[in-house]
Amino acid sequence: MPIDTLISAESIRARVDELGRQITSDYAGQEIVVVTVLKGSFIFAADLVRAIDVPLAVDFLGLRSYEGTESSGVVQITSDLTKSVEGKHVLVVEDIVDTGLTMQYLLQNLETRKPASVKLASLLHKPARSKVKIPIDYLGFTIDDVFVIGYGLDFDQHYRNLPYLGVMRPD
Ligand code: IMP
Repeated sequence: MPIDTLISAESIRARVDELGRQITSDYAGQEIVVVTVLKGSFIFAADLVRAIDVPLAVDFLGLRSYEGTESSGVVQITSDLTKSVEGKHVLVVEDIVDTGLTMQYLLQNLETRKPASVKLASLLHKPARSKVKIPIDYLGFTIDDVFVIGYGLDFDQHYRNLPYLGVMRPD
């Protein structure tokens, strides 16, 4: 299936660098734990942490909420954090907030672990599909209601390795 470019690799790089600078300035003098939500956020997180210049630890959390292109609404933790985040400043890194149901679940779950603070960085936001309001502290791009692939995001596990964000064009 042909793929149209939605956001180029160059535009992503420039925006990720901006977010990194903003995060660096907001957390000056503090340490953070970057919680990367697997699998879709792994490339965004890898680029974002290299644009952040404060001491940080990384941890990973596996979530499953999607089958194909539709949110099932039921969120499952497929692999949990390796360390407690109690008393820590947590920065959650997500690929996309679509309905918001996944982040609503995760942010509530993290609050029960008594972190000092929790903020959210999301590469993408699709407000047209929003079912719950999720505060995104650091947002890469707002996009229309299209299903995107690439830069970590998949369609049935494919296309994560595209260096840009694309949209499949049904022919
Ligand atoms: P939500 O619970 O509907 O907000 O869905 C969030 C998750 O669904 C994201 O972390 C992605 O893994 C997946 N997702 C939502 N929209 C897309 C898309 O356009 N492309 C690829 N994955 C998506």
